Amino acid sequence: LVVSESNAVSVDRDDRKTAAFAESQRHLAKGSATLTRFPDLREILRSSYAVQGMDGAEEFGALEEDQVSVFYLDGEPHRRRRTAISRYFALKTIKTRYNDVMEKTSIGLMNDLQRTGSAVLDQISFQMAVDVAADVVGLTNSDSKGLAIRLRKVLDAGTAAYERGSSRHFAKLKVLAYTWLFYWKDLRPALKARERELGDDVLSQMVKDKFKLGTILRECLVYAMAGMVTTRELIVVAAWHLLEKDELRQRYLAGDEDEQLAIVDEILRLEPVAGMIYRIVRENEAPAESPACPGLVGLDLRAANVDESVTGPCPFALDPDRAKRMKVAGNYMSFGDGPHRCPGAQLALHETRVFLDKLLRLPGIRLSKLPTMGWNTSIMGYELRGGEVSCDRIAAG
Ligand code: HEM
Repeated sequence: LVVSESNAVSVDRDDRKTAAFAESQRHLAKGSATLTRFPDLREILRSSYAVQGMDGAEEFGALEEDQVSVFYLDGEPHRRRRTAISRYFALKTIKTRYNDVMEKTSIGLMNDLQRTGSAVLDQISFQMAVDVAADVVGLTNSDSKGLAIRLRKVLDAGTAAYERGSSRHFAKLKVLAYTWLFYWKDLRPALKARERELGDDVLSQMVKDKFKLGTILRECLVYAMAGMVTTRELIVVAAWHLLEKDELRQRYLAGDEDEQLAIVDEILRLEPVAGMIYRIVRENEAPAESPACPGLVGLDLRAANVDESVTGPCPFALDPDRAKRMKVAGNYMSFGDGPHRCPGAQLALHETRVFLDKLLRLPGIRLSKLPTMGWNTSIMGYELRGGEVSCDRIAAG
C-alpha cells in the first residue's frame, strides 16, 4: 500500500496529470498491434528479432551505414555507433564536465528569473535542455539563446508538418527554411571549428569518421528531438508536481542526490514524455513464444510504467519509495530498453535534478499560471506550454 502525502494510506490515488489527455490523443500506427505489459515490452526491446520501427525506419534503414542516424541503425552497425558515442554519456562525464554546464546555465536562468520576477517554464527549461545537449553534441560555436530559438522553430514546424490538413505543406516548407537557418548559424561554424581542431563531442566524432553533411545535420536534429524536447517536458511536469505538493517539495529539498533522482524518476514513470515506440518483428525470426506476431508493433511505454506486476499496488500514486521497495530500476520503461535504450537518460535526470534544486529554493517561488497541454504525435507525448513560475524580485544591483 502507498503512503500518501498526508501519511494516510490510499488505495485509489491517481496523481497523474497527463494520463487523461494522453488517452484522448492516443492513436496507433496503421496495421500495428500494441503491447502494454512490462515484461512483453522488455522481451521485444531486448530481442534481436525486432528492429527499429519508428517513423522513417524503412526509408533511412535502407541507406548506407554512415548515412543513417543512430536511431535508425540496428544490429552490429548500431552497436558500433553506440560504442563510439558512449563516453559522451558516461556518468563520470555527466558529473564532471556537463555538471559545470548544468550549474552555469541554471544559475543564469535563476538570476534572470529573480530579476524579472516571473518566467515561462517551458522556455527556461528548453534553454537548460538546449545548453546541456548542445555541449554533448558540439553545437558550441554560436550563441545559445539564438540556438534555442532556431531549434524550437525547426521542431515546432516539424510537429506541425505531422498534423493532418492543408497547413502541413506550409509547415514542411517552414521546416526546410528553419533547418537551413540552423545549419548556417549554428552547425556550419561548429563544423568549421572542428575541422580546424577536433573537440570531445559527438560532432567531432562524426567529423573524424568523415560522415556526410546530410547525415550530420539529421543526427543533430535527432539529438534535438530526442534530447532537448523530451527534457524540456520532464522539467516542466516535475516542477508542476513539486510546486503543487508541499510535502514532496520539502522532501526533495531535504534529500540527497539519490533521493532527488528517485523523485524525478517516479514523476517520469507517471508522466512518461515518450508514450509509445515502435518495432518491426521480423518474419521467420520471431520464436513461437514471442509476445508479438511478425509486423509492426507499438510498445506502450505509458501502460508498461503502470503495470502492477512491476510497480506493485496503487500504480497511479506518486510514491518515490516504490522502485526501491519493488527492487527495480526507477526508470521503468521511461527511457525504453535494450540496445536502443536512451543513452541520454542519466543526463536528462541529472539536469532536471539540478534545475529543480535551484528553482525550488528561490524565495517566494510558486506556479503562477498552469501550463496548457498539447500533443506531439511523433513521440506520442504531451507538451506543456505557457506555465509560469513567479518568485520574489531582487532589484538589479
Ligand atoms: C526526459 C528525457 C528523455 C526521454 C524521456 C528520452 C526517451 C528516449 C526513449 C524512450 C528512447 C528509445 C527510443 C527507441 O527505442 O526507439 C530514446 C532514445 C534516444 N535518446 Fe533519449 N530521452 C530523453 C533524453 C535524452 C537526452 C538528454 C539525449 C541526448 C542529449 C537523448 C538522446 C537519445 C538518442 C540519441 C536516442 C537514440 C538511441 C538509439 O537509437 O540507440 N535522449 N530516448
